[in-house]
Amino acid sequence: MSNTQGRAPKPLASEHIPLKARNVSFSWEKTPLHWLPNDPFTTHTINVLHLLLPAGERWFVHVYKQVLPLIRDERLREDVIGFIGQEAMHSQAHDEVLPHLKEQGLDPTPYTAQVDWLFEKLLGDRTLPPGKARRWWLMERVAMIAAIEHYTAFLGDWVLNADELDRRGADPTMLDLLRWHGAEEVEHRSVAFELFMHVDGSYRRRARTWATAFSALVFLWQRGARFFMENDPTLVDGRASFTDFYRSGRAGTLPTTGAMIRSIPRYLSRSYHPSQEGSTAQAVAYLASSPAATAAEKGAA
Ligand SMILES: [Fe+2]
Ligand SMILES: [Fe+2]
Repeated sequence: MSNTQGRAPKPLASEHIPLKARNVSFSWEKTPLHWLPNDPFTTHTINVLHLLLPAGERWFVHVYKQVLPLIRDERLREDVIGFIGQEAMHSQAHDEVLPHLKEQGLDPTPYTAQVDWLFEKLLGDRTLPPGKARRWWLMERVAMIAAIEHYTAFLGDWVLNADELDRRGADPTMLDLLRWHGAEEVEHRSVAFELFMHVDGSYRRRARTWATAFSALVFLWQRGARFFMENDPTLVDGRASFTDFYRSGRAGTLPTTGAMIRSIPRYLSRSYHPSQEGSTAQAVAYLASSPAATAAEKGAA
């Protein structure tokens, strides 16, 4: 099936753990609009996650359900099913922040309507005949998801280590949402790449879809941050610029520009495997102490 299966890079360590969805819930009543005090730019740059992830992660699930019949490896199939469960929960948890933003005077609907169109129509199934064209489009999307998951793992690892957010008094509920999600991204970081290598694995496709996914993420992110800054009812002349992003990276409240640039050749390296990034032990430790994850655990017991 795969044209590179035998040569696929292997995980660094035998870190495999069974994936499970945690049925978390968050209450947003006490979370202020600027949940990172006195820093609307960082708040809104991170808030872009709530705009992109509900539709984006629903799309992951939609695509992966179509790939399940192509998986010829039982363990990978279990991982993909666990991944689907986790991503469905992430999508829902971020979606539940949006009414809270609306109550605070920041209606996200004009932006989320565009994001929904992007994932449901532009990146949807299209009316393709069964056969080559349909499979090509499915593989393109599987490869795009692997590229996006390189960044969700990158961000997950970042937020688990972003102590500056704690030092600056970030809202504990928002931090827990970000770190619960980030920890599960680190936990399942190898699944999308291993699935891509299993069903296709073409290096050209990996590079091509990385370029598409990366450009789209940068475009959507800067547009989303601008949208929030311009529509924030408490700001007179809200703006978002690359300089603000660079400064927040230096301050430790966002990833640094350098770290983002350095992540590019890593994904494009032929020896890349997601297990080289982040720490499963750290992710699991956070999930064992996360208020939302531990409450979900007790609820499930
Ligand atoms: Fe996720
Ligand atoms: Fe993910």
